Amino acid sequence: MSTESFPAANAISECFEAQAGQVAALIMKYHASIEQRPVMSSAAPGDVFGALPQHAPETAEPFENVLRDVECIIIPALTHWQHPMFLGYFPANASTPAMLADLLCAGFGVQGMLWQTSPACTELEMRVLDWLAKLIGLPESFRFGAAGASSTGGGGVIQGTASETTLAAMVAARYAHGGTDHSHCVVYGSTQAHSSIEKSAKLCGIAQDNVRHVPTTENLAMNPAALQEMIAHDQSAGRVPIFVCATLGTTSTGAFDPIGTIGPIVTASNAWLHIDAAWAGSAFVCEEFRGSMRGIEHAASFNFNPHKWLLTNFDCSTFWVNGAARRKALIDAMSIAPEYLRNAATESGEVVDYRDWHAPLGRRFRALKLWFVLRMFGAAGLRAHIRSHVEMAQWLEAQVNADERMELVMPRSLALVCIAARAHRGNSANELTRAMHDWLREDGRLFLTHTVVPDGTPEGRYTLRVAIGTPSTRQFHIAKAWDLLCEALENVYSTSAG
Ligand SMILES: Cc1ncc(COP(=O)(O)O)c(C=O)c1O
Repeated sequence: MSTESFPAANAISECFEAQAGQVAALIMKYHASIEQRPVMSSAAPGDVFGALPQHAPETAEPFENVLRDVECIIIPALTHWQHPMFLGYFPANASTPAMLADLLCAGFGVQGMLWQTSPACTELEMRVLDWLAKLIGLPESFRFGAAGASSTGGGGVIQGTASETTLAAMVAARYAHGGTDHSHCVVYGSTQAHSSIEKSAKLCGIAQDNVRHVPTTENLAMNPAALQEMIAHDQSAGRVPIFVCATLGTTSTGAFDPIGTIGPIVTASNAWLHIDAAWAGSAFVCEEFRGSMRGIEHAASFNFNPHKWLLTNFDCSTFWVNGAARRKALIDAMSIAPEYLRNAATESGEVVDYRDWHAPLGRRFRALKLWFVLRMFGAAGLRAHIRSHVEMAQWLEAQVNADERMELVMPRSLALVCIAARAHRGNSANELTRAMHDWLREDGRLFLTHTVVPDGTPEGRYTLRVAIGTPSTRQFHIAKAWDLLCEALENVYSTSAG
């Protein structure tokens, strides 16, 4: 068949402007109606798969048909992360500036693996990461600074997720340690640290037996004395500590490891201290929430996810290394130079090639969305966003403290409130809290996730996590969430046997 009977494919069609307008209208409609929907999708397993044809279409379909299926098949099977009553997990912020920049990113269609494959892609990222490092109070040694690629500072890079940056940090740590036999390398994180440490160790060829889970103190933060003891024990057995991950804001309860005390211990051991502030890092744009960063100068690398709580659409995980030596370790660990990627700019040594800062080669122009967000909200707008959620969490904390039926299982951490029912008339606290959670899931108006907090019993304490941070959440939504928690408990009381 002749190809002439088909229109030539172009990057941009004449209909783009009109169609982009229709997509924008659909997004507006979606957000306007989001509050009328249950937070979680009611789709059953296989619903979407079954609703889609088994073959791709042979001939082009009209845009309207595709958009209709977005409305009829896709949207009903979404979990609405931007719903103001989405208070589960940690948030995944979206905002107009980030969406517009993402559209521009797609429109340009560039790929920024090397400086020369789009100088703007690389240099905007360098500059924006310097801005952000300053905004969250990272020391100057984490920034490129005026010298850019020739800096004696570290510098930052955007990756997809916090897990990828943990892996990059561990790869750099392993490289800095030297040698090819990693059987004696040991890595450390607290018992509350994110599972990405274990996954990174797996990917780095570090035996699971050599992943240490450092005990915590009462507040579920890493116990520095226990870390010191474990390091000493490993060293005396001929093993080599190469990597310690300290968490600022753990996933489960938002605990902060004391890096001021941990830092010197790690430095003395010659291991790489990585800071995982995936969620809490956004709050550091506000000076009053930076107390936990004392000791940050000991860190070799630092990560947080603007896509969690800083109004930047997924994916945007920012990662910095402290000082040129750490940058060199990271780059040397990742760098390969096949003939087809060689070019004069790279060889001049005057540019940053971000392909050497992470596992993937190709990369999107993600710096655009961070740039739009930082400029269109301004630092003051970002601080107001964070503070509003922390204030809502303080209000909720006060309600729980004033209500003898429930309690805070752990102290509030920024905008994360961990709540459980107290035991009542023969029903254990765990039975009641689990039943409340079941009731809320069935009801559908509020979405929460849970955790189990260690309390010295084999079972632990079943706990509801209220993670405030969705951009559309307002104080009255939190008041409604509190009413629903109370309604859930009253219903559980009335149906429980006790
Ligand atoms: C403290 C912490 N670290 C790491 C992660 C993993 O994040 P990502 O999905 O970006 O890999 C999370 C996820 O919530 C987290 O809370």
